[in-house]
Amino acid sequence: MECFLLFIATLLVLAAVLVQRVLRLGCDCQICSAEVAPLKLQSVAARKNNLFWRFSMSYKRNYLFVATFAAASLSFAEDDFISGRVTNANGSPEAGVWVVAETSDLPTDYRKIVVTNDDGKFVLPQLPKASYRLWVRGYGLADSKKVAAEPGDNLSLSVKAAATEKEAAAVYPANYWLTMVQPPAAEAVSQLDYAYTQETWLAQFKLNCIVCHQLGSVVTRSIPGRSHYEMGLKKAEIMPQIATELDFNLVLDVLGDLGERVANGETPGVKPSRPKGIERNVVITQWGWGDLYTYAHDEISTDKRNPYLYPDGPVYGIDMANDRVIWVDPVKHSAHQGKMP
Ligand code: HEC
Repeated sequence: MECFLLFIATLLVLAAVLVQRVLRLGCDCQICSAEVAPLKLQSVAARKNNLFWRFSMSYKRNYLFVATFAAASLSFAEDDFISGRVTNANGSPEAGVWVVAETSDLPTDYRKIVVTNDDGKFVLPQLPKASYRLWVRGYGLADSKKVAAEPGDNLSLSVKAAATEKEAAAVYPANYWLTMVQPPAAEAVSQLDYAYTQETWLAQFKLNCIVCHQLGSVVTRSIPGRSHYEMGLKKAEIMPQIATELDFNLVLDVLGDLGERVANGETPGVKPSRPKGIERNVVITQWGWGDLYTYAHDEISTDKRNPYLYPDGPVYGIDMANDRVIWVDPVKHSAHQGKMP
């Protein structure tokens, strides 16, 4: 009988916790009232299950970035997050736009990025103590001004619609700009050694080049014409070689055409849509590593045979271009490097 009562009591407690979690009853703190899942990311150890490591090649700074899905949890610190709401000039909420917090106060550059919910609200969770600059980017908007903020703050951020399609398109992902590429004439591609069709030529063009870097990015789309691309591609010896089987001249025709149309103000016909549903739960953390000339590849933080190894440990990468191993300590927010012997 006692066992049975204990069982019923346990069930009741679990049911009460569930109702509290689902309805978010009994708590009017900033996190719960922000109506974004009450966020406390699990420790890096637990996160190893559901995160993916990536790196981004940037011409300003190299960043290691980690994307996690925000997970509901029972506990969170009171003062390690910034919350707020994003509205436009009419005072209406802006949903599905990114709120970025960045700082140079830590041992290495640090950024955290989240997405607003239907009501324009956001929570930037688990921020190390520092002064941050906060700003908003979203499809259809002009990038907002940067405002100063610290963990514990609750902010109202206002944004403006982009004045022109050109301004809006400036932040479209590279692939959207790549849709503007026109293949060479069918006859020209059919005469190559590999006898391509326009489709297979385009597929090979993307495959050959994207193995190293994006196409359609600002750097690769903003070269004003064919002769400039010819010089640009010779910057890395391998590029003209890679372009040979596609016919270097045809590659230059295609790129030159893209560069001229972009310079004349043409923008992609296909436009990206804002994040929806669980896409809005993604939390991205970035740490600066390497330097302007870093060419980072093959990041590793654990062993795929046992991904629970080395929780909270460093994330290593190879800086291919400079014979260096580089690494980030995701707890101390520091970046390091060592020369390969
Ligand atoms: C082996 C790696 C690699 C491959 C493959 C590659 N690139 Fe590059 N690409 C680079 C590097 C590295 C740079 C930066 C060079 C620099 O700034 O000194 C670059 C830069 C560029 C630029 C900018 C040039 C400039 O003037 O700043 C363009 C355009 C470009 N690549 C196009 C292409 C195209 C088109 C292909 C396929 C035919 C291609 N790349 C394949 C490594 C590569």
